[in-house]
Amino acid sequence: MKILGIESSCDETAASVVEDGHKMLSNSIASSVDLHAAYGGVVPEIAARSHLEVIIPTIKDALKTAKIDWSEIDAIAVTYGPGLSGSLLIGVMTARTLAITEDKPLYAINHVEAHPYATFINKASSSLSASYHLPTTKPEFPILALIISGGHTQLVLFENHAKYKVLGQTADDAVGEAFDKVAKLLGLPFPGGPSITKAAQAGDPQAVRMPIPKTAGQYDFSYSGLKTAVLRATQQMVGVGFDFPSFKLSERLSVAQKANIAASFEATAIEVLAAKTFKAFEAYKPKSLVVAGGVAANTALRARFKEQFSLPVIYPDIKLCTDNAAMIAALAFYRIQVGDKLADSFKLSPIPSLEM
Ligand code: KG4
Ligand code: ZN
Repeated sequence: MKILGIESSCDETAASVVEDGHKMLSNSIASSVDLHAAYGGVVPEIAARSHLEVIIPTIKDALKTAKIDWSEIDAIAVTYGPGLSGSLLIGVMTARTLAITEDKPLYAINHVEAHPYATFINKASSSLSASYHLPTTKPEFPILALIISGGHTQLVLFENHAKYKVLGQTADDAVGEAFDKVAKLLGLPFPGGPSITKAAQAGDPQAVRMPIPKTAGQYDFSYSGLKTAVLRATQQMVGVGFDFPSFKLSERLSVAQKANIAASFEATAIEVLAAKTFKAFEAYKPKSLVVAGGVAANTALRARFKEQFSLPVIYPDIKLCTDNAAMIAALAFYRIQVGDKLADSFKLSPIPSLEM
């Protein structure tokens, strides 16, 4: 079964053809990240306009790379939430139109649920395989998944393709969002994850004391306090008070100070993820541990998790950690196997605050 996935929840416009939930035939992504970099974060209106411009060429590219035409596509799967409402709307309306005009069944997919399914992609067509490091271990149920991205931080226990339980989630900011905001404070380029990692390499993770956030539930997360702690530490380092404009702080920091703040923040952010995931792992004894979402691309995190867990942690290829449509097509395949209902091509609406 060949499924065309379409993803447009944030700033990436993506289309991909995946066969039988595990073989990637194409993975086309057009990102508007460069347009947002000047603002230090994703600007929803710019993202929506960019989706509109590139979505059809991206879908065409996905079909061309997969070397197939519409007659060979068995279904269309589209992200209908969560995400930015204008962005989601472009993907959903395009998918609905194509489902009607090409006479294909349409499936509505939850973006966050799809992230861990990137680890089910363990094969690629010969034209793609050289540029991907796909997991060699297949996830086995029950799967404990840590989903860490710019919008989400949650621990989910998947019992099978049809049933899962959210064990905990962030009470405020997502971990990726914290990386982005701390990078902005330090005057480092957007997106913050890779910039923080780069700056942190020259820093001392013990240099600045960071608080370990307290949360209501034992598997919940909180990142807004850590972000504030970084702000306070920076103000103290620079020698200014609360009333000093935060956008001017980075000008007064040396490269070495930035490196120390980045390293201390990154180490603390990762430590919390490792500790909570380990706690859940001990309690639920899953067969597989999957870490997915944009922050799963972080090399320091991968090193820390390797230390913490005796079993091999399963990660998607780096290019499938951040937003892509292959994970959307993969999840759709397994949802169809467990009897997921078709979406109405004439009625499907995006749900920006969709939860798992
Ligand atoms: O999954 P994703 O592409 O989009 C959402 O669904 O949110 O994740 C984007 C997030 C951004 O916050 C970005 O800073 C973060 O993932 N990210 C990283 C790294 N690469 C991307 N965070 C830490 N380390 C990285 N190497
Ligand atoms: Zn995402």
